[in-house]
Amino acid sequence: MPEDLLAHARAAKGFMPEDEGELLHRWARERLPHGPALEVGTYCGKSAIWLGAAARDVGGTVFTVDHHRGSEENQAGWEHHDDSLVDADLGVMDTLPTFRRTIRDAGLEEQVVAVVGRSETVGAWWRTPLSLLFVDGGHGVEPARADFRTWPHWVMSGGVLVVHDVFPDPADGGRPPYEDIYLPALASGAFTEVEVVGSMRVLRRTAGEAGDVL
Ligand SMILES: C[S@@+](CC[C@H](N)C(=O)[O-])C[C@H]1O[C@@H](n2cnc3c(N)ncnc32)[C@H](O)[C@@H]1O
Repeated sequence: MPEDLLAHARAAKGFMPEDEGELLHRWARERLPHGPALEVGTYCGKSAIWLGAAARDVGGTVFTVDHHRGSEENQAGWEHHDDSLVDADLGVMDTLPTFRRTIRDAGLEEQVVAVVGRSETVGAWWRTPLSLLFVDGGHGVEPARADFRTWPHWVMSGGVLVVHDVFPDPADGGRPPYEDIYLPALASGAFTEVEVVGSMRVLRRTAGEAGDVL
């Protein structure tokens, strides 16, 4: 990770430990020459800086999808709420302005493209094979199931699915990314695990082609 962008990644609001960000950056560098990357769950752009840094180095485009209204755990009264991200007029979360400022400051506006909308709505119209898919959206059962139905089948042969917050031991964290994304991806027979760092899991598509139903 180049020093200038490391400073931006460290300063950005968000949920991406450095060792996991480094994994994203490394895999994005490998995969971006073969096709675009897509992230589900932009928040304020912290992980997008790690991905976008790779695109600045090797070329390519990173799409990042979010409705920017926050997940359940980001809402007022929940553990991961940040009052500074509430639109004062509307009284609802809006992480889009902070994301735009973060990506502008990092100089990654050419590499990182925001897609603003619900993951399932955007994905219903998506047709482009993905070289890297990073799933870090809603962590409840329904959003995780929807993300599994919506996105992993667009990973191209040889491409990778990266899942965040995978906790096989319930004592370490919530279940849906593990039970409703990671395990079904492996059970589909289309993916093979290739790396584990912290709560990140990297699965390579080793069977089927982009668009094939899993
Ligand atoms: C854990 S945060 C993402 C963290 C980010 N990757 C980072 O590095 O800081 C999850 C994000 O997913 C978004 N999200 C949750 N459910 C969604 C859905 N159904 N469609 C689009 N975005 C969603 C939330 O708005 C939130 O910004």
